[in-house]
Amino acid sequence: MPGNNRVRVAKKSQFEALAKLHGSEFAVGWSADEIKSLDASDRVVTLISTDEVAEQINGFAMARAVVDEGEILTIMVAPRYRRQGLGRRLLEEIRYNLEVKGVRTIFLEVAAQNNAGIALYRQQGFCEAGLRKNYVRLKNGGTEDALLMRLDLAR
Ligand SMILES: CC(C)(COP(=O)(O)OP(=O)(O)OC[C@H]1O[C@@H](n2cnc3c(N)ncnc32)[C@H](O)[C@@H]1OP(=O)(O)O)[C@@H](O)C(=O)NCCC(=O)NCCS
Repeated sequence: MPGNNRVRVAKKSQFEALAKLHGSEFAVGWSADEIKSLDASDRVVTLISTDEVAEQINGFAMARAVVDEGEILTIMVAPRYRRQGLGRRLLEEIRYNLEVKGVRTIFLEVAAQNNAGIALYRQQGFCEAGLRKNYVRLKNGGTEDALLMRLDLAR
């Protein structure tokens, strides 16, 4: 239920759970240490969403700001919580955090066959800005092209 979810900045003690969530979806999962070392930079923001009733982490997003450019590093929602507006909410909050850091343009890469991800980003105003051939590693060992997408924020 969307109303039961809360989005906030992740704590270090939650990185293990984030690594598990990430590894359940992506072929190249991130370890808790990798998340920790990314998050250690003050340019990086890591947000988590929790189901406040079940007391369970059900999504997270990470992004990096470098001067006026931002990059979405990852965003994911646990399968049983999808299509309830949580991905959109995480993306909106990440975008706000990047704007506060002075970001004016946000970039991201998404697997070219990832219809849900591409639909979410398009819905939030991202446009296709390029193609990276064989950029994404798949769980079956193959590779897939990635779309580069960008969003120019209002000045
Ligand atoms: C992509 C992802 C984060 C979307 O999260 P979500 O919580 O299900 O998304 P939302 O419910 O907020 O959906 C927002 C909009 O995105 C689009 N969308 C999301 N999932 C979709 C799907 N499966 N098919 C088509 N459109 C979809 C829709 O436009 C939707 O708006 P609507 O519900 O009003 O139609 C989720 O599917 C996920 O975690 N996927 C695996 C990880 C991943 O691929 N991350 C993105 C690349 S890094």
